[in-house]
Parts: sequence; structure tokens; C-alpha cells
Amino acid sequence: MYKIGLVGAGNVAWHLGIALEKAGHQVINVYSRHWDRAQQLAQALLAAKPTNQLDFSNSEAEIFFIAVTDDALAEVVSKLLVPENSIIAHTSGTHALSLAQKKKTFPAVFYPLQTFTKNKPIDFQNIPICIESNHIESLDKIRTIAQSMSNYVYEINSEKRQLLHLAAIFTCNFSNFLFTIGKDILEKNEMPFELLQNLVNETVQKAFLLSPENAQTGPAKRGDNSIIQKHLSILNQYPSEWKTLYEQFSSQIYNYHKKLT
Ligand SMILES: NC(=O)c1ccc[n+]([C@@H]2O[C@H](COP(=O)([O-])OP(=O)(O)OC[C@H]3O[C@@H](n4cnc5c(N)ncnc54)[C@H](OP(=O)(O)O)[C@@H]3O)[C@@H](O)[C@H]2O)c1
Repeated sequence: MYKIGLVGAGNVAWHLGIALEKAGHQVINVYSRHWDRAQQLAQALLAAKPTNQLDFSNSEAEIFFIAVTDDALAEVVSKLLVPENSIIAHTSGTHALSLAQKKKTFPAVFYPLQTFTKNKPIDFQNIPICIESNHIESLDKIRTIAQSMSNYVYEINSEKRQLLHLAAIFTCNFSNFLFTIGKDILEKNEMPFELLQNLVNETVQKAFLLSPENAQTGPAKRGDNSIIQKHLSILNQYPSEWKTLYEQFSSQIYNYHKKLT
């Protein structure tokens, strides 16, 4: 069991805090710039004290998880005051290990590869956790924590982790934005988004069963140009960027599969 300080009170911090406690660790400090946000998260935990100050010099925590926005990470680490020999672990997919580097402390990365939204419960046991440190004892501690929370723990260096994050942006964030467009088109035409649920589930299952390039279907793959032209004319009533996306995706799919055949 480790005593932990949590810096951040956003999506990841909420899920991380709850999962750490579930795994038997003690989250004793929670930081947010906004006192009320720190307090809300602390109240959801067993024995955490909220703070809006980055001074943890007197904390009993030995590991500090930094779950703040990527753009704020360097600034937060530079302002952070923690006891000597503490481990500072950030949760970013793309930032290098060195962003958690600070004098007289040990840097680490603890990147949970999942999409987190504060109020949507999630089972950490199945989430891949990517860990990294250049200090053996710190890596052991981070690994112990990760293994207490998840069945899928991977040691991945900064270079590979940023590629993993890039792949995750394409597969998760971009697909989700495409869901947003699909939902908008349906709802503007009085059809429920749920109509697409079975299709989306099957698409995801098939991608992992057959491999996505083998599972591709649709007018662009088939070269059905008359359908593509009809869709493009319908898209004149929607934001022009959606038409551009449709054209770009269709030509990418067509060219990719032409090369394969
Ligand atoms: N969300 C995901 O699905 C996910 C998955 C894996 C990894 N990550 C990574 O985890 C980290 C946190 O992401 P998140 O989704 O939890 O972000 P988030 O929900 O937007 O929360 C960000 C937190 O950063 C704090 N913050 C922002 N700017 C700050 C500053 N200048 N000084 C101090 N605190 C600041 C915010 O503080 P206030 O509370 O004061 O506003 C908030 O608590 C990021 O590195 C992200 O890449 C995210």
C-alpha cells in the first residue's frame, strides 16, 4: 500500500483516485487550482485532504500523480514542492518522461490507455497501463501500483508511448468525432443515434477479429462513385468541413485499397 498525492481533479484524476483506493492505496492529498474541485474529489475518496496549493513539502505521500492538461504539465512540475526522493509520475500519452524530472525526486510515467470522462464509471482492471521510469526502484514501485490496479501493465518508453498515443487519437478521438457527425445528421432528421449502435459495435469487433483493412466496406472501398456523389450533394446542407472530411476519407479509403489489390 502506498500513500499518494493526486495533482489535478479532472477526468483522469477522478478515475485514478478511485481506482487507487480500490486497489488498497491511500490517496492523502488532492490538488486543483480551484478549491471546490479539489474538495469534490477529496469527498469522493476515503481520507484525502483537498488543497489549491502545490506545496506538498510536509506531505506523507511518496508518489505524486500529476494528471493535469498536457500544456500545463511543465509549469505544474516546476512549481510543485514535494519531499526529497518522492516519485513524480505524469499521466500523459505524449509527453516524455523528462517532463516529470525535478531535482531530488524520481520521474515516472503512468499512462492509462483509456478514454476517461469524470462521471462515466470504468473498470480499471482491463485498462492497459503504460509505465516508465529511469530509476529502477521507482519503476518497481510504479509497476507494483499499476499491477494492483490492472491486469495489463506494459513498460513502454517515451518514444513508443507517443506513437501509441498518436494511434489512439486516430482510433478513439477521431472515430468519436465521426460519431458526433453521424449523430448530428440523424438527429437533425428525427432519427435516434441508437440506430447506429449495432453497426458501430460490429465494426469494432470485426476490426479486431479480421484486422481493419480486411473489414473495410462502403462505397469508397467498392468504388461506387454514384453513391459518393449523392452523399456529397446532401452534405451541401451541412458544415462545409464535413463535406471535405467525406471527400478526404473516401479518397484515402479508395487509394489505400487500390494499392492492396
Ligand atoms: N481523458 C483521458 O481520456 C486521458 C486518458 C489518458 C491520459 N490522459 C492524460 O491525463 C492528463 C489529464 O487529462 P484529463 O483528461 O484528466 O484532463 P482534464 O479533465 O481537462 O483535467 C485537467 C486538470 O488539469 C488542471 N490544470 C489545467 N491547467 C492547469 C494549470 N495551469 N495549473 C494547474 N492545474 C491545471 C485542471 O485544473 P482545475 O481543476 O483547476 O481546472 C484539471 O484538474 C493529460 O496529460 C492527458 O493527456 C487523459
